[in-house]
Amino acid sequence: MKLSIFLSAALLFLAASNVQAQTNRRLLCYWMPGIPASHINPWLCTHIAYSFLGLTAQGGLTFLWRSEAEVVSHLQSVVALKAQNPALQIIIAVGGYNVPLVPVWSAMAASAAARNSFANNLLAFVRQHNLNGVDIDWEFPNYDGTAPQDRDNFSILMETLRAVLPSEYSLSAAIGAGAWRTNLSYDIPRIFVPATWIGLMTYDLHGSWEPRTGLHTAMYRSSLDPTDQNVDASVQLVLSRGGTRDKLYMGLASYGIGFTLDNAALNGVGAPASGGPFMAYNQICQRLNANTLTRVWEPTQLCPYAFQGTLWVGYEDRESIIYKANYIVNQNLGGGLFWVLDDDDHSNVCGHGNFPIIWPASDIIVWGWRTRPSMQRNTTFV
Ligand SMILES: *[C@@H]1O[C@H](CO)[C@@H](O)[C@H](O)[C@H]1NC(C)=O
Ligand SMILES: *[C@@H]1O[C@H](CO)[C@@H](O)[C@H](O)[C@H]1NC(C)=O
Ligand SMILES: *[C@@H]1O[C@H](CO)[C@@H](O)[C@H](O)[C@H]1NC(C)=O
Repeated sequence: MKLSIFLSAALLFLAASNVQAQTNRRLLCYWMPGIPASHINPWLCTHIAYSFLGLTAQGGLTFLWRSEAEVVSHLQSVVALKAQNPALQIIIAVGGYNVPLVPVWSAMAASAAARNSFANNLLAFVRQHNLNGVDIDWEFPNYDGTAPQDRDNFSILMETLRAVLPSEYSLSAAIGAGAWRTNLSYDIPRIFVPATWIGLMTYDLHGSWEPRTGLHTAMYRSSLDPTDQNVDASVQLVLSRGGTRDKLYMGLASYGIGFTLDNAALNGVGAPASGGPFMAYNQICQRLNANTLTRVWEPTQLCPYAFQGTLWVGYEDRESIIYKANYIVNQNLGGGLFWVLDDDDHSNVCGHGNFPIIWPASDIIVWGWRTRPSMQRNTTFV
């Protein structure tokens, strides 16, 4: 009796003071940036990664498809979110999937002078723009199997960056998922040592390079997809090679990968198909609302797919994201990473609230379902 009175009082106190009981798990969200920073709720993600800067073989930084002035103004607008949530971390991501950069990474990482220059340029950049860290998105070391030295030089690059960046700055890397990629590109135990965290890109696991439809974020293998190209096998492989749970952030996707069916009547997983479009969740949800896509739930791989005519797309929605977020908690991983803020329904065009894919993941991973940030998400969704 006394205990229950005490508990009730404690709960009332918690409710009244709106305590923000964040867990120690993190959610890193990439920002392209295709939407204004002002659209991003400052409590949605614990880290926002501006994507991307480029680099030169000598270790210089480049602005890729934007001007320096645009990049600086984007960074200022996203750093301004910290006025509302001072704990929010803003980091700079370098690279991304960019085939012309493949030989540039390889040359930079193979030269001690260029690696040092790259690390010092990044340190100057994060200081100049009041950022909290650096995220290395070299996609991928030993890309096509012809530069085996990349595997060691990537580890050396991470060690160099950690030696140059003072400890208050985070150092992370996004790495490709799946046994084939892990074998080609990474010395797993070694890269985990200098890293604050390693983001495992558990998406793009199936796509246009294959002759059959597949869910690019399939959770488990199934009789229709009996390979290890799935999220669980990718995570377990990294753990078995010496990756540490607390530093492993699991990839989550707010987009789908499409196929063109050979025969509209054969529209399941594993159906004969060729390449199709990448589709943002905000496009998919509009087509579902307009009944120009039909959703099907795959109960073994725990993902939805949708089709119309010869268009077929495997994607993520609230239901599949909730399974993945719970997996991150149950496996005791350090957190999740989202590619990408811009592809979620950030402006609530579909009527399920703003960021209907990322919020459930944030609620489970970051907030433990219990306490929500004072700047609420759109509660009409739950
Ligand atoms: C790059 O990797 C290769 C293979 O491990 C190694 O021999 C070489 O010394 C590395 N380059 C540098 C500059 O460290
Ligand atoms: C990856 O490497 C392991 C260990 O060497 C090997 O057993 C496995 O077949 C490889 N997998 C792929 C897909 O390359
Ligand atoms: C929340 O969602 C409802 C229903 O779709 C919408 O009418 C409302 O404008 C949204 N509110 C905000 C703050 O986004």
